[in-house]
Amino acid sequence: MRIELHTSDREALRPLFELAEDSRAELDAYIGAGEVLVAVEGDELLGHLQLVGDEIKNLAVVEAHRGGGVGRALVTAAIERARDERIELLRVATGAADTGNLRFYQRLGFRMRAIERDAFTAANGYPPGIEVDGIELRDRVWLDRRLDAG
Ligand SMILES: CC(C)(COP(=O)(O)OP(=O)(O)OC[C@H]1O[C@@H](n2cnc3c(N)ncnc32)[C@H](O)[C@@H]1OP(=O)(O)O)[C@@H](O)C(=O)NCCC(=O)NCCS
Repeated sequence: MRIELHTSDREALRPLFELAEDSRAELDAYIGAGEVLVAVEGDELLGHLQLVGDEIKNLAVVEAHRGGGVGRALVTAAIERARDERIELLRVATGAADTGNLRFYQRLGFRMRAIERDAFTAANGYPPGIEVDGIELRDRVWLDRRLDAG
């Protein structure tokens, strides 16, 4: 597996972005921003990570390849890239309902910073009734990781 910068059509990655974003309106607003790293094996796309300034804005690994270190490799590559750009604090947000994601980011050195209540509302384009493991998706958790050490 290799991690590389995605330089061709961003829209081709939309199905991957949609794995991590339930709001069409939000995705339309940011899909073209920043830069995107992709994890590739042969000619197969395994996952992607979008870095917009100091924020990991969207990240997903195709279902069949989860649990094998692809997500970790993408975040590690993003950390290196952000360090190269002299970014001191890398930020990411995820749903409070998604305890798996909260574990994933904390395993990668991120710590919780803030909770944004009622971030996933219809007004922001999120369909009602989304649940993750039986928990309603309502609040957003912001995490960050300092890049000056380890
Ligand atoms: C979150 C996601 C990117 C993780 O990618 P992945 O390739 O499966 O993760 P890795 O295999 O690199 O896992 C790294 C560590 O995180 C843990 N982890 C990953 N997903 C986890 C989950 N759902 N629940 C608990 N732990 C998880 C792994 O067990 C591993 O921990 P370890 O070091 O103790 O072994 C992937 O599950 C995904 O695409 N999810 C759907 C989209 C999404 O929610 N994106 C994030 C939006 S913020």
